[in-house]
Amino acid sequence: MKYYSVAIDGPAGSGKSTVARRVAEHLGFTYVDSGAMYRAVAWQALNQSADFHNDTEIEQIAKELHFQLDKNGWLINGERIDSLLRSPQVSQYASNVAKTIGVRKILVAKQQEIASKNHVVMDGRDIGNHVLPHADVKIYLTASVEERAKRRLNEQQKRGYDGDLQLIMKEIERRDEQDQTREISPLRQASDAVRIDTTSRSVQQIVDEIVTICCTKMGGEE
Ligand code: CDP
Ligand code: CDP
Repeated sequence: MKYYSVAIDGPAGSGKSTVARRVAEHLGFTYVDSGAMYRAVAWQALNQSADFHNDTEIEQIAKELHFQLDKNGWLINGERIDSLLRSPQVSQYASNVAKTIGVRKILVAKQQEIASKNHVVMDGRDIGNHVLPHADVKIYLTASVEERAKRRLNEQQKRGYDGDLQLIMKEIERRDEQDQTREISPLRQASDAVRIDTTSRSVQQIVDEIVTICCTKMGGEE
């Protein structure tokens, strides 16, 4: 049986997870938030006061974590910890653990296994270029740094964290730089991806555009 896959990549705050979740719902596909896996490794490493410079230690944490996907998202070691994974501290450390080749190998293998058994919409940084190079549809979302920082601030305030726009802009720029310049699987638009600037567009507009692309490429499947 052929399993369809939609890869959505882009920098922090470009709208990947919001859009990917809705596109998956619309198509009846499984949504896979790959960033949450890197966040989970960082979260566990912080819990254990691990040494982020020690690749072997961080890799061992990735090996031992149990990832289970259900219709509401990831269960990490049997627990739903979504809001803990979204803290600013975990965001920054996720980008650090994502530089570790051993961690990437473990997580990419899990992502590819899911895509080999399900129709998926998967979002992240390296999905179109590395995890699912043969994805049926590849999308690269982007937006200005200021717009992305405003979105993050908004989200953080809703979650009860305080925030400063200028500081968030700096953090986003630092994470963009780290994600784009790392040696292994840097964030880069795939040559065959459709680029969509989400800066002044609503979530619904983006979702509609992607669903239309999917329906065209996948022969009208919905
Ligand atoms: O939601 P946001 O875009 O802020 O981040 P995320 O998608 O949850 O990813 C958190 C971090 O994990 C990113 O800054 C990347 O360093 C890393 N990541 C990655 O390297 N590869 C992926 N496929 C997904 C995330
Ligand atoms: O996953 P990623 O970090 O790329 O972004 P996200 O978490 O999906 O989106 C960040 C925030 O921006 C969310 O609160 C979205 O509702 C919002 N957003 C928006 O206002 N307009 C868009 N076109 C896309 C996302």
